[in-house]
Amino acid sequence: MNSETFSQSVLNPASPQAAGVSLLWWIMLLGAVIIFVAVMGLLFYGLWQARGARGSRLSWIASRNLVLAAGVAIPLLVLISLVGGSLLLSEAEASGPPDGALTIRVTGWRWWWEIQYLDEEGEVLATTANEMHVPVGRPLALRLVSGDVIHSFWVPELSGKTDLVPGHVNTSWFEVERPGVFRGQCAEFCGTQHALMAFLVFAEPEPEFEAWLARQAQPAEAPEGEQERRGREVFQSSTCLSCHNIRGVSEVGVLGPDLTHFGSRESLAAVTRPNTIGHLGGWIADPQGIKPGNLMPATALDSEELTALIAYLRGLE
Ligand code: CUA
Repeated sequence: MNSETFSQSVLNPASPQAAGVSLLWWIMLLGAVIIFVAVMGLLFYGLWQARGARGSRLSWIASRNLVLAAGVAIPLLVLISLVGGSLLLSEAEASGPPDGALTIRVTGWRWWWEIQYLDEEGEVLATTANEMHVPVGRPLALRLVSGDVIHSFWVPELSGKTDLVPGHVNTSWFEVERPGVFRGQCAEFCGTQHALMAFLVFAEPEPEFEAWLARQAQPAEAPEGEQERRGREVFQSSTCLSCHNIRGVSEVGVLGPDLTHFGSRESLAAVTRPNTIGHLGGWIADPQGIKPGNLMPATALDSEELTALIAYLRGLE
């Protein structure tokens, strides 16, 4: 896992909603190029005229009408059309999704993302963190909330930005047009680790997604190996469970990511590190060294306990 593996570009849209944002960007660039060329043209024309001191031919450039038009009317026109365009786009995204949409509740926390799939009654089907799987070709209705401060949900290839505000539910929707892995990023400064608050969207064909969701909805399977069983004991006897839930094992945690199917994730700590044995060990031993200020304290474990815990967590698929 590295920054090149997952693309994150407004210019490579994979949903009609992101295509609208991309189009607006191209219009803005084209307009900026036209205005730049025109201003430079006038500047050089003026300089060329002034060299010969043929002041009379400069009169139309120096006239009050041109100053008014170029200084007031044109900027006003440009700003109104750009603001109008972006308001229309964000209104289309915030308005209700079409029927048959899949509802996903996303909660922003400092500094990670809780992702919950809801059924038609609004009951939670499955909870995961930092990695969202979605079906291609089905509208996705997002319910965006925050557990602490203001964050902003942004997947450049799939959607515009929508803030997650404490005490308020914001809605947004989009539909992914092609399979792929898309990187999302918190787009509102939310503290020192704001830059390390990323997430991944895995867009898959519907049957593959349904199989993934069915698996995520299950409680954790009992570990099979000796080391994994020892790892579960370590989890149950340490402070891990005061923040993290593993459904079927312990469900009292409230502050940290759900770990029920942790082994099925590709990344750690909101896409800060790949989910490998070494990085997981480093994260458990020294989370403050990797992401200073986050809520996870270092856990005092000896090497035997740490090895067993890592084996157990990675086996939670
Ligand atoms: Cu959350 Cu920036």
